[in-house]
Amino acid sequence: MSNYHIKHFEEYFQVYRKSVRDPEGFWEEIAEEHFLWRKKWDKVLSWDFSKPEVKWFEGAKLNITENCIDRHLRTRGDKTAILFEPNDPKEGAQHITYRQLHERVCKFANVLKEKGIGKGDRVCIYLPMIPELAVSVLACARIGAVHSVVFAGFSSTALSTRINDCEAKMVLTSDGSYRGAKTIDLKGIVDEALEECPGVESVLVVKRINSEVNMKSGRDFWLQPLLDEAYKDCSPEIMDSEDPLFILYTSGSTGMPKGMLHTTGGYMVYTAYTFKNVFQYKEEDIYWCTADIGWITGHSYIVYGPLANGATTVMFEGVPSYPDFGRFWDIVQKHKIKQFYTAPTAIRALAKQGTELIEKYDLSSLKVLGSVGEPINEEAWHWYNDNIGKKKSPIVDTWWQTETGGVMITPIPFSTPTKPTYATLPFIGIQPALMDEAGNEIRGNQVEGRLCIKFPWPSIARGIWGNQQRFKDTYFSAFENMYFTGDGALRDEVGYYRITGRVDDVIIVSGHNLGTAPIEDAINEHPAVAESAIVGFPHDIKGNALYGYVTLKDAGEGRDQDNLRKEINQVITEHIGPIAKLDKIQFTNGLPKTRSGKIMRRILRKIASKDTSNLGDTSTLLNPEVVEEIIKEAL
Ligand code: WTA
Repeated sequence: MSNYHIKHFEEYFQVYRKSVRDPEGFWEEIAEEHFLWRKKWDKVLSWDFSKPEVKWFEGAKLNITENCIDRHLRTRGDKTAILFEPNDPKEGAQHITYRQLHERVCKFANVLKEKGIGKGDRVCIYLPMIPELAVSVLACARIGAVHSVVFAGFSSTALSTRINDCEAKMVLTSDGSYRGAKTIDLKGIVDEALEECPGVESVLVVKRINSEVNMKSGRDFWLQPLLDEAYKDCSPEIMDSEDPLFILYTSGSTGMPKGMLHTTGGYMVYTAYTFKNVFQYKEEDIYWCTADIGWITGHSYIVYGPLANGATTVMFEGVPSYPDFGRFWDIVQKHKIKQFYTAPTAIRALAKQGTELIEKYDLSSLKVLGSVGEPINEEAWHWYNDNIGKKKSPIVDTWWQTETGGVMITPIPFSTPTKPTYATLPFIGIQPALMDEAGNEIRGNQVEGRLCIKFPWPSIARGIWGNQQRFKDTYFSAFENMYFTGDGALRDEVGYYRITGRVDDVIIVSGHNLGTAPIEDAINEHPAVAESAIVGFPHDIKGNALYGYVTLKDAGEGRDQDNLRKEINQVITEHIGPIAKLDKIQFTNGLPKTRSGKIMRRILRKIASKDTSNLGDTSTLLNPEVVEEIIKEAL
């Protein structure tokens, strides 16, 4: 039995038990047999959640890029490492082999060094989904610089805040980016941001859209001429297992974004191991994750996890709607994608388009479908399963977080029987607990509580950059000796987990706890509904009442709104009970979303409470204009 590759359900249980009984022994074996270390560790694990402090493979020496690139050169030198699919399909895909990737990363790393970047320096990467993004991430790791990727859709204010927080010395960007039929002036955004960032010494600019940009002399440099001059080999900086690998910002419920800090050895081991098993990756497979590398999903499951396994990983520059809504399926057909990993929000958007465009394409290569980022509602799950997977590709509903580094609760495809809306069982080595508000663990099945993790896993974040106190307060203070996820979950009669949503989104109505996700699930069952979001608002008698924002398919053409309101409450009553009925239903043309597709409930909550004076910064939203519309209609 190989513990590295789990092939059936019984094996999952065996390996799981082993990983929990003897975590140190288990992870030591995985680390030893499947990775390249320059020096072995002195100690597998030391931890104390009360401090908090976690160290994996202490004393070990390695470079993650040697594991992701160099060690594959002998056997996979000519295999495609990165398959780049550009925004415009006419431009044609680009295959970058492991050998070519090695050379590109080495050259880029040498350019960074020449510009004064060394071990421990922070480099901010603000690039679109082009090969240079993955290459620059790896180039930083090659020389021990700490990358901080900022999604290239964030505004200049969001960018400068992040650059200053981690005191980045350098910014990597491009002249601009393509997004469907539009172009975006990235360099202009960087220029604006840098007016607030005195610490940035240099900016390297990739030419992508051939636009006119302003180059500040002494600060800004075109990348290509520097690469042309650079030497094609760069020996990897030998890092300690606990040396920082990257910072990635994630928004908290309040205040500044949190710069989650991940380190090297444990992150590598866990992302590689989860990738192999969650996607059942086999040597010839072409794997595609539609996320952006600006998010944790892209870090762990476009770059590090796949490359550590010698996989072929697709990078898609464009959007699902360009040139038309068949683009995803066109890419699946063209590259014979085996594993397809996307977000429920994308699934719902595509489902709204009907199935005509899907029927034009051959999707028979698909083997595993993934979902991540938010609870997948029942309707979307079935749509995905029926129309994309044709009921033969298991859906892996993977629950995890920026903070966890890798997938935490998930089915293992072809092993774990799936169940719509359930992330099912903890991954190997993960020990979840459900807690009640008094701080006690809720044991047994058919229970619901706050989701915590009892024991460290190798890729847990080690801190918040520059603010360990906030790290402790946010994740390790709510429950003693536990990592608190901020999510609620229920455990069904067989022990399967279902994530019910952020606990900060729980609404207490007449003393009953109601999760927003299950109510939204119910509403979305209504055939006229495209999407919905529920928030609480103050109510004299019930404490809180429910306010529903609902977008309709085809903008609700030909429907009587009052009838629809009644029908929606009827569906809720059927699925959950009359207690979950909505007091107010507002039909909207869209819901305010973050760039990663999450609904901004904070804003909706304020509007529902008629408190629109201070909505905070809405400029980083995907669709800030929707907010104005909703306010106007609400009042
Ligand atoms: C939510 C994304 C339900 C959850 C990898 C979590 C999910 C937050 C799922 C983290 C899922 C993510 N089912 N909820 N499969 N995946 N979430 O940091 O609330 O962008 O806490 O990481 O997304 O979002 P983040």
